[in-house]
Amino acid sequence: MCGIVGYIGNKDAFPILLKGLHRLEYRGYDSAGIALVSEERKNLNVYKTRGKVADLEHFVESKDISGTIGIAHTRWATHGEPNDINAHPHYSQSENIALIHNGIIENYAVLKEELLRKGYTFQSATDTEVLVQFIEYVKDSNHTDLATAVHLALSQIVGAYAIAIIEKNNPDFLIAARKSSPLVVGIGEDEFFLASDATPIVEYTNKVIYLDDEEIAVIRREEGLKITSIENVEKTPHIQELSMNLSQLEKGGYPHFMLKEIFEQPRTLLDCMSGRINVEGNNVVLSGIFDNQEKFRKAKRIVICACGTSWHAGTIGMYLMEEYCRIPVVVEYSSEFRYRKPVIYPDDIVIAISQSGETADTLAAVELAKSHGAFIYGICNVVGASIPRATHSGSYTHAGPEIGVASTKAFTAQVTVLTLMTLVIGKVRGTISEENYLKIAQELLKVPAKMEQTLQLNEQIKEFSKIFTYAKNFIYLGRGYNYPLALEGALKLKEISYIHAEGYPAAEMKHGPIALIDAEMPVVVIAIKRGMYEKVVSNIQEIKARKGKVIAIITEGDEIVKQVSDYYIEIPDTEECLVPLVASIPLQLLAYHIAVTKGQDVDQPRNLAKSVTVE
Ligand code: AGP
Repeated sequence: MCGIVGYIGNKDAFPILLKGLHRLEYRGYDSAGIALVSEERKNLNVYKTRGKVADLEHFVESKDISGTIGIAHTRWATHGEPNDINAHPHYSQSENIALIHNGIIENYAVLKEELLRKGYTFQSATDTEVLVQFIEYVKDSNHTDLATAVHLALSQIVGAYAIAIIEKNNPDFLIAARKSSPLVVGIGEDEFFLASDATPIVEYTNKVIYLDDEEIAVIRREEGLKITSIENVEKTPHIQELSMNLSQLEKGGYPHFMLKEIFEQPRTLLDCMSGRINVEGNNVVLSGIFDNQEKFRKAKRIVICACGTSWHAGTIGMYLMEEYCRIPVVVEYSSEFRYRKPVIYPDDIVIAISQSGETADTLAAVELAKSHGAFIYGICNVVGASIPRATHSGSYTHAGPEIGVASTKAFTAQVTVLTLMTLVIGKVRGTISEENYLKIAQELLKVPAKMEQTLQLNEQIKEFSKIFTYAKNFIYLGRGYNYPLALEGALKLKEISYIHAEGYPAAEMKHGPIALIDAEMPVVVIAIKRGMYEKVVSNIQEIKARKGKVIAIITEGDEIVKQVSDYYIEIPDTEECLVPLVASIPLQLLAYHIAVTKGQDVDQPRNLAKSVTVE
């Protein structure tokens, strides 16, 4: 939710900031802006516009973009509609200070009232403008410098923020701070970078510091970096090395990141399993569980907290763990869990699942569960993000950067980690038979090849997806392990094609949704020859009897469903609990091709952002 980037060093700041914005655009793309201190002309130039980073690029043509210090922002609107004025950076009253912000200032209304009474005026409807005005007010009224003013002002702020600030008369000084929104500092040779994540930094340096909550980074050209708490206590920075590589951030010849990420899945699954499962498939090791075996042996319950696609992966995890670990599992929307006054026991294990590792509701759910003494296990993709740092233990999904806003490879990697966890926990608790352990582990090793085979269907799916661009609604049905997959298939379609889609357990259809079925209604049915196959075939018959259009995902060679469905996609057979991994591919491709045919922006769908750092 909003991407921020900053630079101070001996190079021109503009191209570095602009490239950084392009990398962070997945976080928000309704408006963008940049502020630069021009040392030569002693100006603090702010340029901002509604639209994407490309629009900003166009907007600054023939403007003064000189300067070796600057900050830049790509926005996902919270307070104030997306327009030029509400775009960041925001000036202070005197236009001596410029600030960018990711997060929400909760007490902005009270502060604004106070500032209005003192004669301050506001251009925008944003909470961010209140913050920059407030910092200037604190600076002026205390006759102090900007660094001290930021410390004093932030001690009165309620809410979430990652901010970066520059000052007109101080071209050697950049200050940044974070609370509940991510911020990374990159350390180069006589230069420093700031960004919401490491992607804008990786091509300049692999040395980074992930700021902790309520930390302030003060960067001076001569003295370098100093990190303090809001109370001004100096902190020892923990410098980490990035393992990301640049090619992961490019489209690599694909028209969209989403398609690239769909095609990457055989590789990402191998990466996810690497070092965790041996080639014979008879030994699965997850150090995060191994080091905490007693907790997993004694736990009475597992609570999974997540949002969106990660919640769907968590629901597949529930089916897996209940079947093979014989432990009660509940799957919670983090946003509901955190406010519901849930009953949490100290012997609960709470699994937080998040691609970004920054989702505000999941982070809050983690903190809540921790405060009740539960053991928290994280499943995250972005290394060093807030959630993995807040958990007691966990496993990274190792899917590599996911840039497309619609999650694809992160989902299948999450399901893979949950499968590995099931095998390890099942063994620790003595609930999984040797036969099932071997069967699942050995078959899991074959899944990347089966995904590869399924990806060959891309052209076929592209062709028949054209038929469905007329649709206003879609229904997705599945049972057992494939019910959460039906939910995920529907979410993929709605978020990128803007076609309304509902996922349902197939047997629930007759309790209501069947009323929607007519000759116009496409119904995607995951009808694999496993689990409750015959019952799903009956559901297909019920749809056909009402003239619905059935698109079935079937097991290779299944002549029965072929005959009763209008369209079918054949995928290789696998263990029942692993079907969602292989069957994800046609669902992702179907959504992708429908959205592309409809001319939608699949990588940056309207109203969405990749990392939801606000409630
Ligand atoms: C997925 O396609 C979505 N864009 C969204 O539902 C996402 O899964 C959700 O916001 C959770 O994000 P997280 O995994 O980063 O916590």
